[in-house]
This record gives sequence, structure tokens and C-alpha cells, in this order.
Amino acid sequence: MNPQRILLTGINGQVGNALLSTLTDYEVVGLSRNELDLTNVDAIRQAIREIKPDLIVNPAAYTAVDKAESESDMAHAINAIAPQVIAEEAAKLDSALIHFSTDYVYDGHKSTPYIETDAVNPQSVYGKSKLAGEEAVRAVGLPHLILRTSWVYGAYGHNFLKSIIRLSSEKEQLDIVADQQGTPTSSTNIATALVALIKQWDGQESGVFHFTSTGSTTWYGFASEVVRQYAAMQMQPALKVQPVNPITTADYLTPASRPENSCLDNDKLSRVFGIALPTWQEGLQSVMQDFALKS
Ligand SMILES: NC(=O)c1ccc[n+]([C@@H]2O[C@H](COP(=O)([O-])OP(=O)(O)OC[C@H]3O[C@@H](n4cnc5c(N)ncnc54)[C@H](OP(=O)(O)O)[C@@H]3O)[C@@H](O)[C@H]2O)c1
Repeated sequence: MNPQRILLTGINGQVGNALLSTLTDYEVVGLSRNELDLTNVDAIRQAIREIKPDLIVNPAAYTAVDKAESESDMAHAINAIAPQVIAEEAAKLDSALIHFSTDYVYDGHKSTPYIETDAVNPQSVYGKSKLAGEEAVRAVGLPHLILRTSWVYGAYGHNFLKSIIRLSSEKEQLDIVADQQGTPTSSTNIATALVALIKQWDGQESGVFHFTSTGSTTWYGFASEVVRQYAAMQMQPALKVQPVNPITTADYLTPASRPENSCLDNDKLSRVFGIALPTWQEGLQSVMQDFALKS
């Protein structure tokens, strides 16, 4: 696809910010929440009618997984209704939509990585709202891609990686859940792969694609690798944490339940588009190098 004008939402988010600095070959109109509040349906319609994009990329979302349990209306408005309205307006302009979704649409009970045709069964308000967004986009019937990604982190924004670095420099003991499997995926890897995807996609193939880094680990494995790479790069301030301590989900109760297995098989992405994101360790290394340069 060779879009003339791309409307990009959520530019202050992890993925939106990475996309804004990576989609440099295109005319991009990037909108933050201040410029376009996705709870305002009229404002969405008006913005799209004025901007007239031929492609909309929508990484904006309500992503506070635990808070969503007590703010389901808000999560639904941003994650389900807004994508529907965006899709409806895009369809009127004969435009296409690339929408982001999540591993949390699955219940996590499968023992091997999920494929796109596996049954969905979200266990949290957040997961349900994101699934409703997927269904709404699909129902509109415009050319669309729904990219399910997972465990997003990066140098920009709030995320697990940054929490681990901060906590490890403050505390000697860090307890991290070791019985949830998934794939950390860096926002810059997502952005690079999405640019490649936009170049190849002709709008004919619509549907859901898994869109994560390669390989898998646990939150504990991810945290341990962060600490290992941080020390190996001799970054400052030196970490206080002793080896990260593995705990179980039962030891760390949260309002929203998380899938035990949220590993996604990316074979469809590679078969259809020839695109594969780097391994999660490679992704982590390049983000850590970014941090090292700045520290
Ligand atoms: N983060 C993850 O681990 C993860 C995992 C799987 C899938 N995903 C999906 O991947 C996509 C990108 O996630 P991300 O990590 O980049 O999320 P993020 O860093 O939380 O960014 C989300 C963006 O959405 C914006 N937003 C929230 N409410 C809004 C509203 N009412 N109107 C307009 N914008 C609003 C936020 O604005 P403010 O900056 O003003 O708050 C923020 O910029 C999302 O679809 C998410 O569901 C994320």
C-alpha cells in the first residue's frame, strides 16, 4: 500500500511514539489524546472527515489492565466504541485501518503458542474491551489489519522494563512472577515491522495477525535478563538487587487476571508478509543500548 496520508492516534503512547518517528516516508498526521479524545465520538468523526487519511493506524487504547476492572465503561469506550467509529469513518473514505490488539484476548490455558484461529476467551475487562474492538472493526468490513501484540516496552513511556530498572536500583529484593509465559516486544521493533508491513500490504488481505517478538519467557525471565544486560553494560546507577526472586501468580494478586500462557505464534505474519520481528532478547538489547547511551 502506498498511503498518501496516514492518521496516527495515541502518539504519546509507546507504540504511537515509536511509529511517529519511524513512519518518516509518509505524510503523517499524529494526534495525541489532547488533540483527539477517543471517548468523543463526534470529535473522532470530525477529525477523520477533515484529515481524510487513506490509512489510519490506531495504537491508542485504554491500557491500564488492572484499573479497567473498575472502569469498564471507559475501557469499552476507548477500546471498543472508538475503533468502531474510526472504522466506520475510514470505510466512508475508502480508507484502510491498522488496529492494535492484545494477547489478553486469550484465556492462557493453551500449552503451546496461540495461532490466530484459536478460540478467544478474554479473562479481564481490558481483554474483553479489546476483543470487542476487534469484532467491531471486522464487522465494518473495510480493508483492515488487527495486530495482536504483547508485553510492550521501550525507552519511551511507562512499562515493565523501566519499572524493573527503577526498582532494582532502589531495592535489594525483587519478587517477580515466574509462572506467566509471554513475549516481551519492543515498541521500536513493532514500529519497524509495521513500516515494512505498510509497504507490502495492498489492502486485499484483511484479518488478525499476531505481531510479537520471537521466542518467549516469563516476567521473571524478562526481569532477570534486564538486570543481566544492565550489569553487563555497566550502566549507572549500579543496581542494588540481588538475583531476581521468582514467585507465583498466587503470591502476587492483581485485580485483573492475566493469561498463564500468552505466547503468540507469528507464523502467519511471516507466511503472508515475510515479516518476522527480532527475538525478544535482541529487542531488549537494542533498547538497553539506547538507555546506556543516555545514562
Ligand atoms: N502495553 C502493552 O504491554 C500491550 C500489550 C499488548 C497489546 N497492547 C496494545 O498495543 C497498543 C499500543 O499499546 P501501548 O503500549 O503503546 O499503549 P500506551 O503506551 O498505554 O499508549 C496508549 C495511548 O493511548 C492514548 N489514549 C488513552 N486514552 C485515550 C483517549 N481517550 N483518547 C485518545 N487517546 C487515548 C494514551 O494517551 P495518554 O498518553 O494521554 O495517556 C496513550 O498515548 C494498544 O492497542 C494496546 O492495547 C499493548
